[in-house]
Amino acid sequence: MVCVNQVLILILLSLSALFFSSSTAQNFKCSTPGKCTALVGYVPHNRTSLSDILNLFNIKNLRNLLGANGLSITTPRNYTVEAKRTIKIPITCRCSNGTGVSYNGPVYTVKKDDGLFFIASEVFTGLVEYEKIQTANKIPNANLIEIGQNLTIPLPCSCDDVDSDKVVHYAHVVQSGNSLESIAKEFGTDEDTLKKINDIADDSKLIADKPIDVPLKACNSSINSDSPDSSLRVANGTYVFTANNCVKCTCDDASSTTLRCEQTQLKLVNSKWKTCPSAQCEGSESLSIGNFTTNGCNRTTCTYAGYTDQKILTVTTNDTLTTCSSPSNIASRIGSSWSFLFISSIHLIPLFLHLFQ
Ligand SMILES: *[C@@H]1O[C@H](CO)[C@@H](O)[C@H](O)[C@H]1NC(C)=O
Ligand SMILES: *[C@@H]1O[C@H](CO)[C@@H](O)[C@H](O)[C@H]1NC(C)=O
Ligand SMILES: *[C@@H]1O[C@H](CO)[C@@H](O)[C@H](O)[C@H]1NC(C)=O
Ligand SMILES: *[C@@H]1O[C@H](CO)[C@@H](O)[C@H](O)[C@H]1NC(C)=O
Ligand SMILES: *[C@@H]1O[C@H](CO)[C@@H](O)[C@H](O)[C@H]1NC(C)=O
Ligand SMILES: *[C@@H]1O[C@H](CO)[C@@H](O)[C@H](O)[C@H]1NC(C)=O
Ligand SMILES: *[C@@H]1O[C@H](CO)[C@@H](O)[C@H](O)[C@H]1NC(C)=O
Ligand SMILES: *[C@@H]1O[C@H](CO)[C@@H](O)[C@H](O)[C@H]1NC(C)=O
Ligand SMILES: *[C@@H]1O[C@H](CO)[C@@H](O)[C@H](O)[C@H]1NC(C)=O
Repeated sequence: MVCVNQVLILILLSLSALFFSSSTAQNFKCSTPGKCTALVGYVPHNRTSLSDILNLFNIKNLRNLLGANGLSITTPRNYTVEAKRTIKIPITCRCSNGTGVSYNGPVYTVKKDDGLFFIASEVFTGLVEYEKIQTANKIPNANLIEIGQNLTIPLPCSCDDVDSDKVVHYAHVVQSGNSLESIAKEFGTDEDTLKKINDIADDSKLIADKPIDVPLKACNSSINSDSPDSSLRVANGTYVFTANNCVKCTCDDASSTTLRCEQTQLKLVNSKWKTCPSAQCEGSESLSIGNFTTNGCNRTTCTYAGYTDQKILTVTTNDTLTTCSSPSNIASRIGSSWSFLFISSIHLIPLFLHLFQ
């Protein structure tokens, strides 16, 4: 009997050695000082709700979760999230020693029958390896955790620019059947970028159920470098609240449009400001952030440019509408307005006939 036991222990030991060596997954590279917002992709194994997700990831404001997923701001807390549906979780990221890890949490309280492996692979759906939870919480024996014990969960993230593009880093848990090509296509990036930032040579290095760093394109913005939110990055298809929640900024399409910001009508709770300061552009009383006026081919736009302790900063820009023909070609411009008039009058005749019938 003793002999059998010893053999069993030996087998278990070598198995765990194998397991450890094959699961030393890459950390996300991160060397930018300070903190930033990043995203992780949570794919719940069971049906859940936004409110359970808020609790699991210690997110205070529902609107931040809604924004990260481009969900309507009126979506209720008890909104059902079906199993296997990906929910993007906004986290605060901090780089340290060359790698990025979520800052201050989330904190998970151990429940009955939990083990570190279960917490890592089931509860946090593979976003983190159990060894990393063990290290972060200085747990000597992975098999010994106690009910009620609080564990800091170190989620992977990064704050680095990619090829001098400002991006939002997204931790995507590789699904079986994923290839670098399919991941690049799904998230609007390219294979070479994925290979470079993850230090992987080809598809054979993709490991199912492990996170990989995917840089999401973010909209260009005109926020001043000395504004507290100068590092604000809004990923394609998401929105965020900034300037003490007085401004909502949306990125509709990162490849062609700039950040679209507007004033909010939120009730300010626990905010530095009791009421939101004016978001009107100086010198153009009729224009607030997000508004524009056109005068012929000229457009004047009022854009969000950051904030200070006292006020919301704005910038007024003038540009020429691209739908207008180039000013250097006056003849063709006159021509096109005449043909416009001509078409209009042709269209007007049947309209009038219709009115008189
Ligand atoms: C969510 O709560 C509202 C009322 O607060 C209720 O009417 C609705 O049925 C609930 N939805 C779900 C999916 O539980
Ligand atoms: C930083 O990383 C190096 C090597 O990767 C390691 O030896 C060192 O202990 C780390 N320092 C901290 C503070 O984690
Ligand atoms: C999901 O449901 C299965 C089956 O009921 C259960 O075994 C598993 O523990 C659940 N996962 C989580 C994270 O609760
Ligand atoms: C764990 O965290 C919860 C919630 O923050 C707190 O109520 C509880 O006292 C903590 N438990 C321990 C053992 O620190
Ligand atoms: C941005 O998102 C839109 C849809 O939400 C999509 O059509 C477009 O391809 C995305 N662009 C990039 C650069 O990811
Ligand atoms: C982004 O904005 C900066 C300044 O606002 C501008 O110089 C740059 O050309 C813009 N880039 C794109 C791709 O629009
Ligand atoms: C200006 O934008 C605000 C929202 O920021 C909107 O409520 C208002 O109707 C807009 N005004 C004009 C003239 O478009
Ligand atoms: C449009 O702007 C140009 C200069 O950029 C100016 O010469 C022209 O008068 C403006 N047109 C109108 C209708 O304001
Ligand atoms: C934009 O145009 C308006 C009038 O069309 C002018 O008063 C203003 O100075 C211009 N602003 C800039 C930044 O060029």
